[in-house]
Amino acid sequence: MQEVSHQLRCVGCSAVILPDAVEKDFRCVDCGELLEVEYPSWSAWTAAGAPTAALATGPRRTPNPGALRWLWQERLQSRLPIDKSGVWRFRELLPILQYPEKAVTLREGNTPLYRLLQCAEELGLEQLYAKHQGMNPTGSFKDTGMTAALSQARERGFQWVACASTGNTSAAMAAYASRARMNSLVLLPEGKISWSKLSQALDYGAVTCQLNTDFDGCVRVLAEVVRRAPVYLLNSVNPYRLEGQKTPALEIAEEFDWQIPDHLIVPGGNLANSSALGKGFLEMKHLGLSTKVPKITVVQAEGANPLYTSLLHHDGQEIQPVQADTRATAIRIGNPASWRKAARVIQQTGGYCEQVSEAEIALAKAEIGQEGIGCEPASAVTLAGLKKLMRDGRIDRAESVVLLLTGHTLKDSEFTIDFHRGTLLREEETAGLEREISEKRRATLSLEASADAVLRVLEAAIQA
Ligand code: F0G
Repeated sequence: MQEVSHQLRCVGCSAVILPDAVEKDFRCVDCGELLEVEYPSWSAWTAAGAPTAALATGPRRTPNPGALRWLWQERLQSRLPIDKSGVWRFRELLPILQYPEKAVTLREGNTPLYRLLQCAEELGLEQLYAKHQGMNPTGSFKDTGMTAALSQARERGFQWVACASTGNTSAAMAAYASRARMNSLVLLPEGKISWSKLSQALDYGAVTCQLNTDFDGCVRVLAEVVRRAPVYLLNSVNPYRLEGQKTPALEIAEEFDWQIPDHLIVPGGNLANSSALGKGFLEMKHLGLSTKVPKITVVQAEGANPLYTSLLHHDGQEIQPVQADTRATAIRIGNPASWRKAARVIQQTGGYCEQVSEAEIALAKAEIGQEGIGCEPASAVTLAGLKKLMRDGRIDRAESVVLLLTGHTLKDSEFTIDFHRGTLLREEETAGLEREISEKRRATLSLEASADAVLRVLEAAIQA
């Protein structure tokens, strides 16, 4: 049994809420803002990683940074299920469970960090990496948050969990709920998510409802369902999700031998992931595990850009919801719940917010694919955004950059096939990028079943 030593703090009015007193919608009763998990004992730690003189005599709650780094490496050799999880391997930094050894895990995390050599060469960048969260068990970054929040739901005795989703959260929730022998309820915007994601929720056994509305509408309906039924809310307003989703920050730091890269670029939808990663990096610095934080940049699709607009016109102080529309359906969100947290992370780390067009997203996705990696459209906004940041000098060639790829390419094969068939984008959308796009498009060839026919194609390809 682990000592549970966390509390929740409102990001609006800073009120402190004890875990047992939290509302079902995870919002502050006083001001309606979101909450975040904090660990009071950590305040005894200075940025150098040692308790301040005044507090040095108190109980030593966290091991020193060197010991933690050693412990987390050692666990890579362990056979225990929680040690094999890339989330629970770092459990000292998310002490939210009483019984972490009973966490619901599918061996999430421990995802690869790839070098993107071709994209880097094109951009003249020395160090470009992709942290591929699409290599998680259900194919997206959501698994890291789900293991944390769903384990919390189980410890609290819930039988039912629920979420509104653009597809990936529902896939992850359904899988983890089934592993825990719990039941799950999924609300999806009808016709606006990919078939692969819908199929996952069905396969993993969720009660799956498609509603005749968008994601933001599903969120509104779910809020009422949660008020009226004994179900545990697993959307990313649930602050425990973010505790799991911050662990890729630790993995990145570990891969870089605790020398933090200069930039991290993250797609923005409901804006929890950028918030979570920011929290992870800031906590690492606070605990003395690292000496700097990367500049965290959020990239949105032009058609779903409320944070971009908020930072441009209102300095991130307020947000105007938009009617969201983008083919990157995962981030088709007009009223993001975690905008305040994300705006704060951008400001605290010195990062940026960018928006990219549909054609830029499709092209960037094909470019990542050409590296033999592949990702879903929402993930490709990161490379498209990076190009813009480099073009106007906000990122220098000598700086190191990590793109956070959030979903696997097979999450949305229809998008990929439409791109290569040339049916994805309208002509006016490709303006200015026609050459780059046509260079990336691959036709599927239908041939007679003869070696001669195939050899003719091969010869033409060799000549090209
Ligand atoms: N990338 C992918 C593949 C996603 O599925 C999402 C969000 C995001 C990026 C954006 O992350 O919301 O934390 O800013 N998908 C949610 C879902 C909304 O329901 O699956 P965010």
